[in-house]
Amino acid sequence: MPKLIVVNRDGEEHEVEAESGLTVMENIRDNGFDELLALCGGCCSCATCHVHVDPAFKAMLPPMSEDEDDLLDSSDDRDEHSRLSCQIPMRDELDGLKVRIAEED
Ligand code: FES
Repeated sequence: MPKLIVVNRDGEEHEVEAESGLTVMENIRDNGFDELLALCGGCCSCATCHVHVDPAFKAMLPPMSEDEDDLLDSSDDRDEHSRLSCQIPMRDELDGLKVRIAEED
């Protein structure tokens, strides 16, 4: 099982055992991080699953769709490392992936 490191809004790091095949959002949610609302359930229509991804993993992530890009534009906390975690499938190669839950908009 790949490891996923989640940094919550208080800056605390938590390492969790992630499940490949689920998205990063589902892995965060299933491990009890209620800061990540993921209101649309992963349909890429709410932006409440916004995270900042460790730049070391950027090249391994799937490209950003136009919809994801547009949704992230609605967030004041967007930066160059922003992604919607429901758009990132977890896989073994992403072992050690670190994501920080974005500020609430
Ligand atoms: S859960 Fe709604 S956009 Fe990701």
